[in-house]
Amino acid sequence: RLSSTKELLLNAERGGYAVGAFNVYNMEGAEAVVAAAEEENSPAILQIHPSALKQGGIPLVACCVSAAEKANVPITVHFDHGTSKQELVEALDLGFDSLMVDGSHLSLKDNIAYTKYISLLAHSKNMLVEAELGRLSGTEDDLTVEDYEARLTDVNQAEEFIDETGIDALAVCIGNVHGKYPASGPNLRLDLLKDLHALSSKKGVFLVLHGASGLSEELIKASIQRGVTKFNVNTEVRKAYMNSLSNPKQDLVHVMASAKEAMKAVVAEKMRLFGSSGKA
Ligand code: G3H
Ligand code: 13P
Ligand code: ZN
Ligand code: NA
Repeated sequence: RLSSTKELLLNAERGGYAVGAFNVYNMEGAEAVVAAAEEENSPAILQIHPSALKQGGIPLVACCVSAAEKANVPITVHFDHGTSKQELVEALDLGFDSLMVDGSHLSLKDNIAYTKYISLLAHSKNMLVEAELGRLSGTEDDLTVEDYEARLTDVNQAEEFIDETGIDALAVCIGNVHGKYPASGPNLRLDLLKDLHALSSKKGVFLVLHGASGLSEELIKASIQRGVTKFNVNTEVRKAYMNSLSNPKQDLVHVMASAKEAMKAVVAEKMRLFGSSGKA
C-alpha cells in the first residue's frame, strides 16, 4: 500500500531500525523491491534519481506508485538527489511523496536559499523534504565527486541549515561514499554522527545516510544506534542486475526474471540488515 515517508521514518525511529531507500530504474527494479518488501514483511522506499527519471519519465513514477499501491506492505516513492530547481519543481507534481534537495555543490548560503525555496513548495504539497549538508565523494550515475572536493557535515552549520530551511530529514556526510569504498574500507566518523544525532533529536529531524552499499553490518548497526532511519542503496542492487545479465544464451524473458530475482535477493538482505524486516 502507498504510505508516507514521514510515517515510515517515524516508525523506524520509534522501533530502533531503519528503512531502505532503493534506487530503481525500471519496472523490474520497482517490482524487485516490492517483492522483497512483501517477502520480508518490511516497509520500503522506492527512489528515483534524476538520471532514471530522464530515461523512464512519468511512466516510471507511475509504475512505482502502482507497484506501491498493490503491495501488501507500506511503500513510498521518493525523488532522489534533485540538483536543480527546475527538476525539483517538476518533480512536485509527479506523484512522489518525498524528495531530496541536493544543494551540496553550493556554498552554505546558497544551499540554504535553494533548499528553503524547494522546502516551502514541497511542504505546501505535504511532501517530506530531505536535504544534504556537506558533500559526498564517489560516483552516482553521471556525477563524480573527487575525494578532495568532499566535505564532512559541520554540526554548527547543520543547526543553522535546519533552522533556516525547515527540512524534515538531513542527509549527513560522515565519510560515507557513493558507489565503492576504497580498498582500505569505509572510514565513518561515528563520533560526528553521534553529535549530529544530538542535534537532529533536538530539532526533530530524521538522519539519512547515503552510500549504504559497501557498509558492513557493524557500521550499519552503529549508524542506526546513532539515529540513522533511512539508508540509500543503489550500487549493490545495480550490480546484482548487471551480473545477472552475463549469460547471453538465455532468452530475454528469462534474463529479465533472473535480473529481478537477483535484485530482490540483495534488497531482502538489506532489509534484514537494517532491521526493517517484520516491521510492516
Ligand atoms: O534522528 C531523528 C530525529 O530525532 C527525528 O525526530 O521524530 O521528532 O521527527 P522526530
Ligand atoms: P550507493 O550507490 O553507495 O548505495 O549510494 C546510494 C545513494 O546514496 C543514492 O542516493
Ligand atoms: Zn545519494
Ligand atoms: Na557506497
